[in-house]
Amino acid sequence: MKRIILSEQEIEKLCQRIGAEIEEKIADEEKIPLVVGVMNGAMNFMITVMKYIKRPIYTDYIRISSYSGTTRTNNVRLLRDVSFDCANRTVIIVEDIIDSGYSMKFLVEHIKHHGAKKVYVCTLIDKAVAREVEVPIDFVGYTMNENRFVAGFGLDYNELERNIPYIYEVDENDLKRMDEVLKKDQEH
Ligand code: IMP
Ligand code: MG
Repeated sequence: MKRIILSEQEIEKLCQRIGAEIEEKIADEEKIPLVVGVMNGAMNFMITVMKYIKRPIYTDYIRISSYSGTTRTNNVRLLRDVSFDCANRTVIIVEDIIDSGYSMKFLVEHIKHHGAKKVYVCTLIDKAVAREVEVPIDFVGYTMNENRFVAGFGLDYNELERNIPYIYEVDENDLKRMDEVLKKDQEH
């Protein structure tokens, strides 16, 4: 039996709440705020949250790399930068999960470097127990108090499971199943 962390319905509800929170936070912005999704993980979350922000926003995405399988590597690499002008603009970085915090720390500094007026951090999951560097988070969907590996709704294991509509805890059987799929892909 899969251990579901967040069901489809729970995800939709929390996205609605976060959308409303963001909408309120940016109510007085004179320049149109920019929502930046950290791809590919934040894709599903960003799309769902945006439905509930009923104000003009710009959207963009950024790509970084730091994970391999279920083990983290601490060096963050920029794979694709934002293409929007962030100067004097409020930027909301949308992430799937904040684990050690290294990725988000890098991203916040990076966006500030682009001249952003304010940087807000929004994450679907805050894996608070795994934090190694402090990062202020402005919008949180769900706080995880156990250091477990989760997948689904954008979150991946070696690029798999992003299309699963809910979030679940990956166990030994899931790893075996996915490793088979990956192996088969390699063989063809
Ligand atoms: P951090 O730099 O350690 O905070 O790592 C953040 C990144 O690692 C996230 O953007 C995810 O892509 C990935 N990550 C961390 N924990 C998990 C997990 O449980 N499942 C899938 N990806 C994860
Ligand atoms: Mg990610």
